[in-house]
Amino acid sequence: MIRSALTTAIAVCVAMPASAEPPRLVKRGAATQLTVQGRPMLLIAGELGNSSASSAAYMAPHWAKLRAMHLNTVLAPVSWELIEPKEGAFDWSSVDSLIQGARANHLKLVFLWFGAWKNSMSTYAPSWVKRDQARFPRAQQPDGQSVDILSAFGAETLKADQRAFSALLTHIKQVDDKQNTVLMTQVENEIGMLPVARDYGPLAEARFGEPVPAALVDYLVQHRATLVPEMKRMWADRGARTQGSWTDLFGPGDAATEVFTAWYYARFADALAASGKAAYAMPMYVNVALNRPGRAPGEYPSGGPLPHLIDIWKAGAPHLDLLAPDIYFPNFVEIVNRYKRPDNPLFVPEGNNFDRPDVPANAFYAFGKLDAIGFGPFSIESGDDKPGALGSAYAVLEQLSPSILSAQGTGRMSAFKPRALYDETVVYEPVVETIGDYRFTVSFADIQRPTATPETATYCGTIIQIAPEEYLIAGQGITVTFQPVGDGPELAGIDSDWEGSFDATGNWVPGRLLNGDQTHQGRHVRLPAGQFTIQRVKLYRYR
Ligand code: DGJ
Repeated sequence: MIRSALTTAIAVCVAMPASAEPPRLVKRGAATQLTVQGRPMLLIAGELGNSSASSAAYMAPHWAKLRAMHLNTVLAPVSWELIEPKEGAFDWSSVDSLIQGARANHLKLVFLWFGAWKNSMSTYAPSWVKRDQARFPRAQQPDGQSVDILSAFGAETLKADQRAFSALLTHIKQVDDKQNTVLMTQVENEIGMLPVARDYGPLAEARFGEPVPAALVDYLVQHRATLVPEMKRMWADRGARTQGSWTDLFGPGDAATEVFTAWYYARFADALAASGKAAYAMPMYVNVALNRPGRAPGEYPSGGPLPHLIDIWKAGAPHLDLLAPDIYFPNFVEIVNRYKRPDNPLFVPEGNNFDRPDVPANAFYAFGKLDAIGFGPFSIESGDDKPGALGSAYAVLEQLSPSILSAQGTGRMSAFKPRALYDETVVYEPVVETIGDYRFTVSFADIQRPTATPETATYCGTIIQIAPEEYLIAGQGITVTFQPVGDGPELAGIDSDWEGSFDATGNWVPGRLLNGDQTHQGRHVRLPAGQFTIQRVKLYRYR
């Protein structure tokens, strides 16, 4: 009897597809990785322009081009108006054609749910929502004028958006739970109130008159030591009050108003994510439209998951796995460092437009320095058929993926690019970092031509330790010198330096053995500018 029960249990286990669980986020050391069918994956990605995914014919020629650029994942909008043109009647053709196009080209997908909000506005909501202002109220300005933005306080709006979103997740589960073509979903797109800091409609007014919810206060109290500096100033330094109005707790004017907006947007997005996950529990995130310095909330989308509001979103939306920055500003390094946190793995869904020259360097930095789970520039299908610099960078990142994944979260890897400031000033100083038993100095200006040129801003690289004295060094336009750290002999030399590549099965295929002029007679490792390459370098110590 016991034996036959055991046999049945084994039979059930064997019959279960290995991929029965949705993709999920898994901690690995200090990093968090996206695991698909039990294996970690880097999302070497790109996001489609907004309207491309609405037409299978438009997309048809693009899929193969994206794969040829070495993308493994495409971020594609799913629009509410296309999947639910009549209330309660769902049409999955746009979703299914994306899944088919991706599968046929060995690509994965991240779906972007363009539901109640897309870039603040509500233009992707179906006609039956747009036209029924009584049931689906709009946000209002102080003079009562409504805007083309659904109010976050409309109970019917949340219910309808939840129903559509959970129908989408149910459908994905039905058609994709074995293949896991769809890896994550983005909840709405760049949420935030315009052109004023909050909704002034009657529902919003009533809520603004209530005390700050206890759930938010509890979070702030519990996380007091780790609040972002702006939230410390806004709440903790003003007395860390635990009861009172929004203004009592967060200060007068825009400050309290924007926190209020962020909290209720976060609660809406959380409810949406919760209902989606109840249908199919894949990772979910929101993306953020960043603000320009000196602008007031409302001039930029107020209350989005901005750097100064991360705590509010973490408190209000525990069902979201991460907050993801869309970065169209030059100060990429500063921004991504704010979104890489123990409670927030880094994912960059829109890392500028695909043709910006610093995009490849930003991808290297995100994966190698900050253990990103994914990176994708915007409007990825818009280029011509030549893979270009991004294709060259992605080809190398694709080859390095197993090494990057095994080094993330372990301290065996770093990545380098010249840091740019918001005003576009580029900081070219060499970067010094210790990886394993060697200290590396990475310079961006050409040693033969030490003054920085505009190209210098695109130079970048990653160093991955693969054995005690062995490193993969990849990128373009960098010069790397090295010194031993710790006790023992004072100097380091190059034992061997091979250029090469990894084949499709992950085996290293050596090319030239670099020496002589290529290593400046053993003084440095140099990755030439203009093409992304990999070198496998063994170091040694001598006196
Ligand atoms: C950010 C948005 O998230 C995208 O959908 C798109 O509108 C781009 N901006 C355009 O730059």
